[in-house]
Amino acid sequence: MGFKVLRMLRGYQKLLRIHSGVLLALIFLAITISCGSNKAEFNPQKPSKADDQEEVYRKYNVERGKRLVELGGCSQCHTPKINTTLGYKPDKDRFLSGYPADKPLPNLPYAEIIAGETEKTFYTTDATVWVGRWGVSFAANLTPDPETGIGAMSEDDFINIFSNKEHFSQENPTITPMPVNVYSQLSFFELRSIFIYLQTLEPISNEVPTRIPPESDLFDDGQDA
Ligand code: HEC
Repeated sequence: MGFKVLRMLRGYQKLLRIHSGVLLALIFLAITISCGSNKAEFNPQKPSKADDQEEVYRKYNVERGKRLVELGGCSQCHTPKINTTLGYKPDKDRFLSGYPADKPLPNLPYAEIIAGETEKTFYTTDATVWVGRWGVSFAANLTPDPETGIGAMSEDDFINIFSNKEHFSQENPTITPMPVNVYSQLSFFELRSIFIYLQTLEPISNEVPTRIPPESDLFDDGQDA
């Protein structure tokens, strides 16, 4: 019985040997056909690999930008605060949206500060508004709102603010009191990451007033503005 089975197996083996050439050819054909069809199927995915890489790079930039914004303390000045019993706290719902346009100016001796007659060189309350001999400056809206934030700003415009240490859109280009001297030490790519990250924020419409120059007649009569 066992012998019979063995003989039968040998028979199969012989058959296999004879046909192995044909079999190999068939397998080869099957592979080429399937590869061929795979090629046609996967071709459209080729550019998506590049997209993937771009997405990985974008995510990396967003992460790095976020860290730099945290380390740079941008929110300290650019986020409106909630006045609590423990002091001013950044309002998460208005993250980086700048000096709130609907907020009245804080009660400060503007004329004296601007004339340099006060003991301090500059004054601020919640750090979204700053008063000094340069006038009154308001922290900008850094959310990607196209009308009131940086949504319509190009990457180059943004980076130039830091590398040239000046504003492009206002008559007086200095950005006091923002520590641009520190931020200008960041590399082009780091500043780019900050820009890319900021563009991912929730856009908030808030039209921050432009700087009030020291010669403004708002301060003429020595009264608070
Ligand atoms: C000490 C407060 C302070 C800090 C910290 C600060 N800023 Fe500012 N920033 C300001 C003020 C105030 C202005 C408006 C100046 C002006 O034009 O009068 C401004 C303006 C800007 C502008 C110009 C916007 C425009 O429309 O031209 C950009 C961009 C900006 N800040 C980004 C940043 C980023 C990014 C950080 C963190 C890395 C940061 N700021 C940290 C106070 C600050």
